[in-house]
Amino acid sequence: MKTIRCLLTGLGNIGRTFLEILPAREARLREQYGVELKFVGVGDSSGTAISPDGLDIAAIVALKNERRGVANLPGVGRPGGNLLEMVETTDADLLLEATPTDIETGQPGLDLVRAAFRRGMNVVMASKGALVTAFDELAASSDWNGDRTKPALRFSGAVASALPSVNIGWRDLAGGEIKSIEAVLNGTTQVMLTMMREGKTYDEALAEAQRIGVAEPDPTLDVEGWDAANKLLILANAVLRQPTKLSEMSVTGITGVTVADIEAASANGGALILLCKAEPGPDGRFALSVAPTAVPAEHPFSRLGRKESGIVYESDIFGRMVALNLGQGPTGTAAAMLRDTLSLYGK
Ligand SMILES: NC(=O)c1ccc[n+]([C@@H]2O[C@H](COP(=O)([O-])OP(=O)(O)OC[C@H]3O[C@@H](n4cnc5c(N)ncnc54)[C@H](OP(=O)(O)O)[C@@H]3O)[C@@H](O)[C@H]2O)c1
Repeated sequence: MKTIRCLLTGLGNIGRTFLEILPAREARLREQYGVELKFVGVGDSSGTAISPDGLDIAAIVALKNERRGVANLPGVGRPGGNLLEMVETTDADLLLEATPTDIETGQPGLDLVRAAFRRGMNVVMASKGALVTAFDELAASSDWNGDRTKPALRFSGAVASALPSVNIGWRDLAGGEIKSIEAVLNGTTQVMLTMMREGKTYDEALAEAQRIGVAEPDPTLDVEGWDAANKLLILANAVLRQPTKLSEMSVTGITGVTVADIEAASANGGALILLCKAEPGPDGRFALSVAPTAVPAEHPFSRLGRKESGIVYESDIFGRMVALNLGQGPTGTAAAMLRDTLSLYGK
């Protein structure tokens, strides 16, 4: 039995859900994978809670469900405790990183991951900021470039939640040459386009998506295509291994999509989707784009449902590989963090 000492940074939708799905799985983790997870440090915006003997997961979840910070945990809470200091000073094997994504600076995740690597910890990320802004650096400091003596970096939940978008590309198509990628990676726009297919205008679909909590009060990142573009950027850098910047990608969101566009695309069984694409460009590099695109009835994405995401890889020796995921909200991302953890430590 291996006991994995974990640090968890960020206890919002994803971090809290990760802790919530664990207790029911403890026996399976022990019996099937030979591991148990011991949380020696956790942190949110209130501060940190640290205990080398292991923190009480149920107490943390209860506190977060009361919308209180972990600094309030009796005996172990540290009001104002700093996440970076926790990673720099607490002995652990694995950092699970789930703080908010900042695609301009990569912070706070970037400095947390750097500190973990300096200390030889493996890292599993849900946040995207550091992957978008500093992928080359993270790959060079970790096992991603093939040096297994370095700490491991995994982030299968950062690109469309539970959809195995990263894993298929870097693991299951290993040894082949990827010819192209097509993907639907943004949940908000897929929900809105599906609502428009059912008769709503763009404005009605956006208002409804905001009402049910699918779209942010400021939906710009989603509806203008930037969230999808950031995910495609991670695939370009991490899977296609093509160093790419956002400025090199062609990005068009769904703000200009009309009901007439949807109807035209839906005729004969097709659909309009926000399609992320990597295809061979004229200069020998992949051309990367995000744009509303009509796909025909025979395309795997033509029947993609309201909460579904998907990816299609074309490889020279593996052929066409398709994955679809009916989303489970934050649970899907938490599940992806668990699979990453088991891929590192499971027997
Ligand atoms: N939500 C999804 O479905 C999804 C899917 C894939 C990837 N992701 C990524 O996963 C990450 C977490 O998402 P989420 O939905 O869980 O976000 P969230 O609900 O906003 O949670 C963020 C957590 O980080 C803490 N935090 C924020 N700023 C902090 C700071 N400066 N120092 C310390 N702690 C800080 C918050 O503290 P408080 O609890 O005290 O507010 C909260 O616990 C994001 O990077 C997101 O892009 C999310």
